[in-house]
Amino acid sequence: MGRELKVSVFRYNPNEPKVKPRVQEYHVEEIDGMTVFQVLTYIRERLDPSLLFDFVCRAAICGSCAMLINGKPKLACKTQTSLLPNKIQLMPLPVFKLIGDLSVDTGSWFRMMSEKVGGWVNTKKEFDKNALEEKMSNDLAQEIYELDRCIECGCCIAGCTTMSLKPNFIGAAGILRVARFYTDPRDERNEKDFYDILGTEEGMFGCMSLLACDDFCPKEIPLMSQLATFRRKMVLASLK
Ligand code: FES
Repeated sequence: MGRELKVSVFRYNPNEPKVKPRVQEYHVEEIDGMTVFQVLTYIRERLDPSLLFDFVCRAAICGSCAMLINGKPKLACKTQTSLLPNKIQLMPLPVFKLIGDLSVDTGSWFRMMSEKVGGWVNTKKEFDKNALEEKMSNDLAQEIYELDRCIECGCCIAGCTTMSLKPNFIGAAGILRVARFYTDPRDERNEKDFYDILGTEEGMFGCMSLLACDDFCPKEIPLMSQLATFRRKMVLASLK
């Protein structure tokens, strides 16, 4: 018989403002290889169908199931209960708009951030559906891929202290997004254009290098070193 997990879950539905936020405790028997996502599925299927939480892929790819697990931003589908004590506390990610219980709206934030930083290949070329794919070296493709592995789960944003002090800060995910297009030769923006986007206190100069983004990224993207490299490139560009 496995451990008995005591799972405390934040409950609140903004559509029912008369019911105050509360913490509800559930007891779940642990099974081999269990993840926090499986705990939540068990609760919803067997104990409480009203519990709200998000998931799509169950494979650490879609970023939907991010939440605070014992105070740290993590993906529920990637977090094994065997690595946690038997008391597990689940809270929604801070910073993002609460939909209900453990479900937050990261999509609107990422869309807003992407529109703010122009997070797509900016080119004046007409789209030609018959054109062949543009070639690039393997090394460059790998460099862009490294910057493009973000799954937009929001863990870096939720863990960022700067974010809680400066609500308009674009965060590691935003800076990484710009760095990705700066590195892509198909993007026709020049260094000044990129500096205009990020050379502010709400951009790369707002980061206080507290490293939480790096600690909490479930895809283990080396965010701090990526941000430092990009900041150095931008500062050099501004001196030209
Ligand atoms: S369900 Fe997709 S990342 Fe967890």
